[in-house]
Amino acid sequence: MRTLISNGTIVTADGSTAADVLIDAETIVQVGRDLAAAGATADETIDATGRYVIPGGIDAHTHMELPFGGTFAKDTFETGTRAAAFGGTTSIIDFAVQSRGGSLREGLDTWHAKAEGNAVADYGFHMIMSDVNDGTLAEMDGLVAEGIPDFKLFTAYPGVFYSDDGAIFRAMQQTARNGGLIMMHAENGMAIDVVAAQTVAAGMTDPIGHGVARKAVFEGEATNRVIRLAEAAGVPVYIVHLSASDALAEVRAARDRGTKAFAETCPQYLFLSLDDMGNGFEGAKFVCSPPLRSQDTWDDLWTGLVKDDLQLVATDHCPFDFHGQKELGRGDFRKVPNGLPGVEDRVDLLHDGGVVGGRISRERWVEIVSTAPAKMFGMYPQKGAVAVGSDADLVIYDPNRRHTISATTHHMNVDYSCYEGRSVQGGSDIVLSRGMVIVRDGQFTGRKGHGRFIKRAPANHARMS
Ligand code: URP
Ligand code: ZN
Ligand code: ZN
Repeated sequence: MRTLISNGTIVTADGSTAADVLIDAETIVQVGRDLAAAGATADETIDATGRYVIPGGIDAHTHMELPFGGTFAKDTFETGTRAAAFGGTTSIIDFAVQSRGGSLREGLDTWHAKAEGNAVADYGFHMIMSDVNDGTLAEMDGLVAEGIPDFKLFTAYPGVFYSDDGAIFRAMQQTARNGGLIMMHAENGMAIDVVAAQTVAAGMTDPIGHGVARKAVFEGEATNRVIRLAEAAGVPVYIVHLSASDALAEVRAARDRGTKAFAETCPQYLFLSLDDMGNGFEGAKFVCSPPLRSQDTWDDLWTGLVKDDLQLVATDHCPFDFHGQKELGRGDFRKVPNGLPGVEDRVDLLHDGGVVGGRISRERWVEIVSTAPAKMFGMYPQKGAVAVGSDADLVIYDPNRRHTISATTHHMNVDYSCYEGRSVQGGSDIVLSRGMVIVRDGQFTGRKGHGRFIKRAPANHARMS
């Protein structure tokens, strides 16, 4: 099957150009002007007049079916990758979870079983380590060889995913040897638990207490600590879901002194705030960790994205229904499952708030939603590029079409939207995954099981600035 995409504007991280794209089976085979006139033939031609042709979005931080707080994140690999596709995202990297007392292998096998035969678009895995010991340290090198070169550890969630500094440092040393990447959830979970207990004891049991207890200084402190530990271990470190100006300042300072420190932020920290958590128990819809911050953080985070102190935006997609799941925390905010839905909204929110809003160029938009994650996580130029030889993961994107985000129309398997009623400019008209049209004009045309595991190589972070 050969597909010709004609008359569009190709937008990549490097620039924009009027050119056609020819796809043969799963791969881009030609990029250039007037390919039909030059003799290119195709079974289908897609006329992209007036629209962008961009590399498919890559969401480097999702949690399909994550067990958390006595329940499970609701999207499966089928529903989650399908929703992602509607929003212009054609690859996700999800977090496989090592259970306490279990091996990395068991966790990885569990996640492969969840995804294989179910995903509609391609997926990779990072590995969550919640139990660092001689056995799991020894397993890490094998995972790198199997295409899972990144390991997430937590200074948060004592008793669940938390690791102490010694455990984190040992995992960092191992990763320094095997060429992988350490990802850190950086909040001081021990201090947070103290303040959270005091907050509940003082009678503040509504979800706003979650935001009050998880202070920005606790994120800044933990970010500084894990970066310093990474420097001592000689390993690149990537801060996930960075939300606070304090934490950004630590990343910036580390980068300024030449440390290989990287960070992502998420749409919720750019578009939502602590104010959203203040409406009684309704605020549970916005409970995630780190928590939403004050609105004056937004400008700092956008500046971080402009200056590349933040390299990319991922969603931390972790959807729990308001009814029946978030409700587990009525009367005690500590029991609200942590996480927000968002895999479907990321590309459009960033186009609307970033490009239309005049904060970033359309090229930087493509970079932070696709190319940077591909480079950071060892899958460039297979993904994240519109180039000969790359996978034909492409989006025909209408930069002018407006739509309103709503739980009544979204495709994520969750009963509310954090962005209910927000009108955004820009939308994915046609989405291709390895040459297959999987979304066309609001209809799903893909296939369950089309998605494939992406075996990733360790990226060369030493060459990234
Ligand atoms: O609230 C969040 N972020 N839930 C998902 C788990 C995590 O820490 O990423
Ligand atoms: Zn986390
Ligand atoms: Zn997460």
